[in-house]
Amino acid sequence: MRHALREATTPLMATKVRPDLSQGAPAHGARHVAIIMDGNGRWAKKRLLPRVAGHRAGVEAVRRVTRAARELGLECLTLYAFSSENWKRPASEIADLMSLLRHFIQSDLDELHANGVRLRVIGNYRAMDPSVVALIDGAIARTAGNKGPIVAIALNYGAQDEMARAVQALARRAVAGEIALDDIGVGDIDAALDTGDLPPLDLLIRTSGEQRLSNFLLWQAAYAELYFTDMLWPDFDERALAAALDAFRLRDRRFGGL
Ligand code: IPE
Ligand code: IPE
Ligand code: MG
Repeated sequence: MRHALREATTPLMATKVRPDLSQGAPAHGARHVAIIMDGNGRWAKKRLLPRVAGHRAGVEAVRRVTRAARELGLECLTLYAFSSENWKRPASEIADLMSLLRHFIQSDLDELHANGVRLRVIGNYRAMDPSVVALIDGAIARTAGNKGPIVAIALNYGAQDEMARAVQALARRAVAGEIALDDIGVGDIDAALDTGDLPPLDLLIRTSGEQRLSNFLLWQAAYAELYFTDMLWPDFDERALAAALDAFRLRDRRFGGL
C-alpha cells in the first residue's frame, strides 16, 4: 500500500494530514504512531525485581497498546523493541529479550491475525538468530494479506543503519543503470527505507522521561509530533495512548508553512 502523498507532486509531507470524518476517520487525525518503549529496567528496579521482570511486563503493555491502536483507528503502530545498539547489553539480558520476542510471536500471532493485523518488521532483523528470522518471516507471511492495521516491530533497528542500507540499495540501482544519480531525490530515499510503504509518521512517543530519539526513525520524524511521558513503558496502556493522541490532536502542524 503506498500513500498518496508519496505519489503527489507536492513535496513530501507538505500537506497537513486532516481526519476525514465523513469516511469515519478517527478525530485525532493520526495515521501512524511510533513508540520508543523505554523504562522496563527502571520499572523492575523500583519493585526490586530483575530487569527481565520489567521486560515481561513490557510485553503485557505491547498487548494492551496493539489492541488499543486498533480500537483508536490507527493505520500503523510502530514499536521500538530492540535497537542496533542494544547488543551492547549483557548477553543474558539479550537472551531474555529474544526469548520474550519468540514467545510473543508464538502466543499472540493467532489473536493478531484474527484481528486482521498485518505484522511487519523494520530494522536489519535478518542479521538476528536464524530461528528468530524464520519465526518473523512466517508471521509476516501469514498476516500479509490482512486488511487491518499494520503493527511494525523495530528489531535490530537503527535509523543510521537503515539509512546506510537505503543508500546502498539506491547506489546499487544507480550502478545497474536503473536510476540516474542526479535523479535520486527525497521520495526515492523515503521509499528505500524500511518504512517505505508505511504511512507518514504522525506521532512519536517516548516513555520513561528520556528526551532523545536513540537512533529511532530519524528520517521519518522530520515532521512528526514528539510526545514524551515520564510513564515507564510497563505502565503504559490504552488511556495513556489516548492521552497522547489527545495531545496530538491539539498540535498545530505547519510543515514549514503558515
Ligand atoms: C526498554 O527498556 C526495552 C529495551 C530497550 C529493549 P529498558 O531496558 O531500556 O529500560 P531502562 O531504560 O533500563 O529502564
Ligand atoms: C531505546 O531505548 C531502544 C528501545 C526502546 C528498544 P534504550 O534504553 O536502548 O535507549 P538509551 O540507551 O537510553 O538511549
Ligand atoms: Mg532504556
